[in-house]
Amino acid sequence: MKPKVLVTRDLPGEGIERLREVADVEVHTGKEELTKEQLIQAIADKDAIISLLVNEIDAEVMDAAPHLKVISNYAVGFNNIDVDAAQERGIIVTNTPDVLTESTADLTWALLLAVARRIPESDTYTREGKFVGWAPELLLGRTVYGKTLGIIGMGRIGEAVVRRAKGFGMNIVYYNRRPLSTEKELELDASYASLEEVISQADFLSLHTPLTPETRYLIDENELKAMKDTAYLINTSRGPLVNEKALVNALKEKAIAGAGLDVFENEPAIEEELLNFQNVVLAPHIGSATIETRVEMADLAINNTISILKGENALTPVYS
Ligand code: GLV
Ligand code: GLV
Repeated sequence: MKPKVLVTRDLPGEGIERLREVADVEVHTGKEELTKEQLIQAIADKDAIISLLVNEIDAEVMDAAPHLKVISNYAVGFNNIDVDAAQERGIIVTNTPDVLTESTADLTWALLLAVARRIPESDTYTREGKFVGWAPELLLGRTVYGKTLGIIGMGRIGEAVVRRAKGFGMNIVYYNRRPLSTEKELELDASYASLEEVISQADFLSLHTPLTPETRYLIDENELKAMKDTAYLINTSRGPLVNEKALVNALKEKAIAGAGLDVFENEPAIEEELLNFQNVVLAPHIGSATIETRVEMADLAINNTISILKGENALTPVYS
């Protein structure tokens, strides 16, 4: 008998066909995500699940699936999974690191440049036929070149964002739980600073930490006040790193210059008032959304699943 796998959404590429060669695969289709009840029903007889970041996999879900051996998350972030509960139950958890690093760094820069140079506003302005001639003060943004880029969370993605900053002649300050090695700092031309220093020095503050109880509301009222009023906040990591209501207030009070956001506190809901600010560029959680990357993520999630089902080691486990 083949092992049974639940895939909570169809994935791009040919990976699922490969999975079908070694497993009975049930793919959830349809526009709506599985509700928790549906998930509990669907997972009951499964040996593996390939989950999305929108599927909350807690102890209750795991206990509904006595044969479950692996939770393979189709994302690098895995705050949707109770990893401690999985570990207690001997369930392996895997994610999709590395393959999405460069795409996510690209999107970070896309938001940074878009907000600094007012690209969405310029696009709308041009389409609406308002462009009636070059003017010295038309749609003035802020210079990116030579400014200070502040990074909070210098993992793979933070580092990839910094590598891109070289061409923009930026001064890099970063905060991480552990400083990088001196060699790495030299290679990236990045200086370690305290969280407070990074926040207060940055012209562009970009968040790249995972969401954990410690990083929830990392950027709250006080941090927003401590930022320069000419600085921009960029978040392509997880929404709850920022108190979204505090962000709205900071924008109202012009305590910061603007924001580029790919992630939100209560996705897919967005703090209503955020939509009113021209100096906020919004994207619907598309950090890793390129054809190439999403296919690579599918391959990795599927290879992790197949390895575990065969009794081999996971390629990218989140705990060891
Ligand atoms: C996307 O947000 C991911 O964690 O992969
Ligand atoms: C994610 O891959 C990170 O380490 O930033």
